[in-house]
This record gives sequence, structure tokens and C-alpha cells, in this order.
Amino acid sequence: MKIAVPREIDEREHRVALAPESVKKLVKAGLEVGVEAGAGQRAFLSDKEYLDAGAVIEHSAAALLGAADLVLKVQPPAQNSALGEHEADLMRQGAMLLCSMTPVRALDSVKRLAQRRISALATDLIPRTTRAQSMDTLSSMANIAGYKAVLIAAAELPKYFPMFMTAAGTVYAAKVFVIGAGVAGLQAIATAKRLGAAVTATDTRKAVAEQIHSLGAKFVGVESAEDAQTATGYAKELSQEFYRKQAELIAQQCAANDVVITTALIGGTTAPKLITEDMVRSMKPGSVIVDLAATAGGNCTLTEPGETVLHYGVKICAPLNLPSSMPQHASLLFGRNLTHFVLAFWNEKEKRFNLDLEDEIIRGALVTHDGQVLHGPTRAALEKSGP
Ligand code: NAI
Repeated sequence: MKIAVPREIDEREHRVALAPESVKKLVKAGLEVGVEAGAGQRAFLSDKEYLDAGAVIEHSAAALLGAADLVLKVQPPAQNSALGEHEADLMRQGAMLLCSMTPVRALDSVKRLAQRRISALATDLIPRTTRAQSMDTLSSMANIAGYKAVLIAAAELPKYFPMFMTAAGTVYAAKVFVIGAGVAGLQAIATAKRLGAAVTATDTRKAVAEQIHSLGAKFVGVESAEDAQTATGYAKELSQEFYRKQAELIAQQCAANDVVITTALIGGTTAPKLITEDMVRSMKPGSVIVDLAATAGGNCTLTEPGETVLHYGVKICAPLNLPSSMPQHASLLFGRNLTHFVLAFWNEKEKRFNLDLEDEIIRGALVTHDGQVLHGPTRAALEKSGP
């Protein structure tokens, strides 16, 4: 089976789908791995390292994609403007694709993939079960985002994070408030603690209070019988009454803290608006908000996805792809996730990939197969968007 790792089309995407370490593992298991020349360049991974790991370096993206049984990517397929062709159209009919996709936001790609009868697997749709943990790109990338969000806040804040007792006197630790203690939020709490900040956090899932405490932070929550946790681990939407009480709590915390890092998502994709303009106005001048939900529109009403804006003396940073800003480790971890996926379904003896439609991981991740769009929400979004 031939695997292809093309260079990512978007110049702002610095990650690559496999690092040399993973190439080595796949080659050892009997797979052929082709890597486009320069694919790892933006992650500071050279063609020589891929070559040494057992990959074949291919200079033509068209030849690489056309020959592959399985294409591994970071971003969903896109238009290759140098070739004047869409990556999905360069792939062999009936081939497989594995990448992070958020298919409801990549409808054009999904349409093309279905037309090409590609079996497209989205890593972000892999069920978050214990068995699939090692394949979970959402978690490995959210970890990086949570870490980087704190570094951005620390760099933007006109204050120290830690408390210092110096000859010039004492400065007190920065106060950090984290909204949403999923994977990114918990990493943000841990990183802010390591930098010496005093950290408070909230979440609508009650189960996380203990995890917040175990990181040495304070948990604040709404007194309510409602709990947002669903069977899949994601948060669900709660009553208007709950959100009204939560708004009071968030308003108090915004005014009291120097930094707010917000990561709240419902169902993994929708960003509730939790920080209003009034709340921003009540914050101390010089405060910083880092809105990690920016990809989904943001948790703050003043957020401008991809931009840093200043309102009422408060900096609101809304980075869109933080894992790409740490491309070497991001590629290493992303590639390990993909490799775990591939090897879980690779029959080394028979040299065959088992696209087992009965398996819950494959079934969960499969967006298109045999000309059909299998992912319900994406199918609904396509029907709504018209022909
Ligand atoms: P996410 O990115 O979907 O959401 C981030 C956080 O925002 C969640 O903790 C959510 O409860 C919270 N949130 C939603 N609305 C909020 C509001 N109004 N106020 C405050 N917080 C709000 O979540 P993520 O990081 O993807 O994790 C989701 C769950 O999946 C977690 O329970 C996590 O432990 C679990 N998980 C399980 C894995 C496995 O077993 N393989 C792997 C990774 C995560």
C-alpha cells in the first residue's frame, strides 16, 4: 500500500502530516511512504531526514497523489494553484484520505471527495474512546493550543506572571481565568500555574472541577442541578437560566482577573458567546483575552477571528491555528496520531488495509465513501447549501 504525504497547500499551515519518526514506523510495518519534496520544510524537517527514514521523495504533487492508496494530510484537500487542480481531483478514484477536516466547514472538499469516490476519514470525528485515544488529533493539537495561548497572554500582558520579591519591592502574581476546562483549558491552567500565575477556572461539566483542583487552580461554577456532560464527553447546551447565572459569574471574574483564556465549545464545534462588550469594558486596562474558540467564531462578542484587537484598553487575541505555530512538535504528535490509526487497521501479513465499516472508529471517522456523504451533519449542511 502506498501512502502519500503532500506539502500542505496553505502557506500559513506549517505542519506536515508525518514526521520522519512516523515514516520509519510505517515503512518498518511494510508500507511504502512517498513524501513531496519540501513537505516538512515549514516544520524544519528536511527531505534528507525523510529519505533516511525510508521515504521516497517525490517532486511532483500530481504524481504523488495520483499513485497513492492513502493520502495523509493536515488540512482538507484544497486547490493547488500552481497546478490549477484541486488535490481531491489529483487523487486516484476510490483511494483513501486521512486528515483533520471539520467537514461541516469544508463542504467544497467533501463534495469533490464524494465525486471522486474517495473514502475520506476525518481525525476530528474519531470517537473519543479509550481505544482511540492514541489517534486523537483533537487532543494532541488542543494541548498545544492551550500551552501557546498562555505564552501569548504572558507576552502581551504588561505585567509579570509570577510573584516576585525584589530589591525594588514585591510584584504580585498575575490572575488568570480560564473558561472551559477541556483538553486546551486544562493545559492552559497547567501552563499558567507553571509560570506562577494565580489561576481560576470554570466549566459547565461538573466532572472537571476535580481536575481543575488537581492542577492547583480554583474552580468556580454556577450552583445548578444542570450538568452539561453528554455520553460522548462533550458539553451540551444548557437552559437560559443557567447561562444568565453564568454571565454574572463570568462578569465578576473578568473584572477581577488580568488574563482570560477562553476555550468553551458546545458539541465540540459551536462557540457560545460568553464574554460581552460590557464585560470587556469592566476589565482592567492592560488585561488580555485569548479566545481559543475563534475558529468557531469566538467566545467573546468583540473577537475578530485571526486578529488581535484593542477595546477599552483590553487586548483580545484570537489566533486561528496555534498548533501550526509550533510545527515541529505539532507534526510529530499529529503524525503519531495518524500512524496509530493506520497501523490499527493494517494487516501486515496480508499487506492490506482493512477499511472495516463495522468498526466504530472507521464508521465514526468516515465522511465520504463509495460516492456517498456518510457524516449526517455534513450531509445536512450540503443539502442546505444547495447544488
Ligand atoms: P471542547 O473543545 O469541545 O470544549 C472545551 C470545553 O468547553 C469543554 O470542557 C466544555 O465542557 C466547555 N464548555 C462548553 N460550554 C461552556 C460554558 N458555557 N462555560 C464554560 N465551559 C464551557 O472539549 P474537549 O477539550 O475536546 O474535551 C471534551 C471532552 O472529551 C472532555 O471531557 C475530555 O475529557 C473528553 N476527552 C476524551 C478523550 C478520550 O477518552 N479519548 C480524549 C479527549 C477528550
